[in-house]
Parts: sequence; structure tokens; C-alpha cells
Amino acid sequence: MKHFISTRDLSREESIALLDTTADMLDVRGRDVKKLPTLRGKTVANVFFEDSTRTRLSFEAAALALSADVSTLMSQGSSVSKGESLKDTLQTLEAMGADYIVLRHAHSGVAATVAASGWIDAHVINAGDGTHEHPTQALLDAFTVRLRLAGVASRGAGLDGAKVVIVGDIAHSRVARSNILLLNTLGASVTLAAPKTLLPTDVSGWGVSTSLTLDDALDAEPDVVMTLRIQKERMSSGHFPSESEYSRFWGMTRERLTRLKDGAIVMHPGPMNRGLEIAGEVADSPRSTVTEQVRNGVAARMAVLYTLTGAES
Ligand code: CP
Repeated sequence: MKHFISTRDLSREESIALLDTTADMLDVRGRDVKKLPTLRGKTVANVFFEDSTRTRLSFEAAALALSADVSTLMSQGSSVSKGESLKDTLQTLEAMGADYIVLRHAHSGVAATVAASGWIDAHVINAGDGTHEHPTQALLDAFTVRLRLAGVASRGAGLDGAKVVIVGDIAHSRVARSNILLLNTLGASVTLAAPKTLLPTDVSGWGVSTSLTLDDALDAEPDVVMTLRIQKERMSSGHFPSESEYSRFWGMTRERLTRLKDGAIVMHPGPMNRGLEIAGEVADSPRSTVTEQVRNGVAARMAVLYTLTGAES
């Protein structure tokens, strides 16, 4: 594995190996000395053409924990605002020593295009491309599910038999796309719950079932309810009548929380719109994995950098 672009590229064996490496990295994070020397002398460049808190900072933390040097380029304040092309920007970073490019971009397919372009020799990691994919989010989510449902004894296991409901803005969600691919590879069953306006027209090839009400999806007693952010910035027109109506029909409310079976969890990739797709009481409840997802995200990104480094040796 030279690049990390899509969860579509991962076999079941590779996916489980990444989950197990994430577990190892979480152990490292729990030690007094939280560092490994794996990337000493290497540079990880975070190139973010879209806003981010979790992904950017956790890649920085992951690279530092593996003893890499880190540089970060945000499009605002850089020469991108003067019209510098992506190719020239990335070649500039590589000329300064970047061995890994962690790339977030508003346009779908950019990470794959860069990886295949031959512009640079560096490893390319997709940190979210438009509405297409967010593969490290899916990895940290799958790890969080495995740890919560099966505990530390889950090493070597997939997610066979786990029932996952993904609810909300599927149409605009790269998190949903990467998660669906990885969850299927790991043996989970996935139900998408969304109003028609937020569901892609044809999901027949996605290996999922659909539900046109969240309440029907919850009646099937899922192990996991993955709530998605309403992406107002990617919406060109009204996809639902009002926020209060969306919350009433599609929000993970306190009442819906009480209907979940023992052990079931509620996830959100962040950033959350509290009171819209998830109630504050739900986000802060013991069933919520929101902060665990963030914590596991550092370990998952360490696992990806570590695995790509293995590909080099
Ligand atoms: N979940 C996620 O990608 O969050 P950020 O946009 O803050 O990185």
C-alpha cells in the first residue's frame, strides 16, 4: 500500500490488520512515553484546502507520535490564494522534504488524481475529498465500533453480524461512503435512514438496505446508530422543510436514545450540529462515542502512517 485513498481498496485482511495496528497505537498512546521512532527523519505535510479541526490536528498528533517532522499548509494564507496550482503546491512541499502528503480538498477525486499523477513521489493520504470519501474517518469509526461492541479481546476480528444504522445527510457524506465500504468488508450490515432528498438516487449497488423513517430503522434493534452532520455548506437548496422538522423525524433525540437496546452506541464524526441531527443529551450520554472517536482517530492515523511506512521498507 503506497497511498491511502479509499476504503474500497482494502481487503478484509488488510482492514483487520489496520484495526489491530490501531489497537497497538492506542496502547502506545497510553504509555508514559507516547512515541515511536518509526518516522524519524521523515516529514508529514498536512495540506488542507478545506476547514478541519479533528482530522488536521489528529494527523499532526499522529505524525509527531511517530517522531516525524510536521508541516501544515492551509489554503487560506498560502500562495494558493494567488492562483498557485495544486501540482505546483505539492511539488513545492515535496521539494522541502515532504514524504507524506495528507490532503483534504473540496473536490471529489482529488486525492486519487494526485496519487496517480506522477507529480510527486510522496505517499498520499486522503483526508476527505468533497462528497467522495474520508477513509481514515471510516477506519477510526470501525475501530470504535469493534472496541465498544467486543472489547480489547476483539483483536483479529471483523464486525460480523453488527447492525449499523447510518442516519442523515447520506447524499453529501464522504464519511458515509467510506464507512459503508469498510463496514461491508468487515461483515457488518448497514441500513441507511434518510429523507429521499438526502439519499442518493440509486444505492442499489451499495450493499445496504434503506429505511424511509428513522423509527423503523431503530425498531430493528441496531448495535450502532451513526448520525451524520447536516452539511449546510454543500446544500444548494432546501432539502427539508425546517430544522425543527428534520430534528423531529431524523434527529437522534433523547426519546429515541431510550429505545436503543443494551450496549448499543451512538456515533457522530463531528463537527456536530447539536439540537439538529443529535440532541445535546444524546451527544453527552454514556452511549455516545463522540470523544472516543476523536481519541481513536489519532491512533488510527498513526496506524495508517505506520502501515504506509512498512510499504516502503
Ligand atoms: N470528522 C471530521 O472530518 O472532522 P473535521 O472536519 O473537524 O476534520
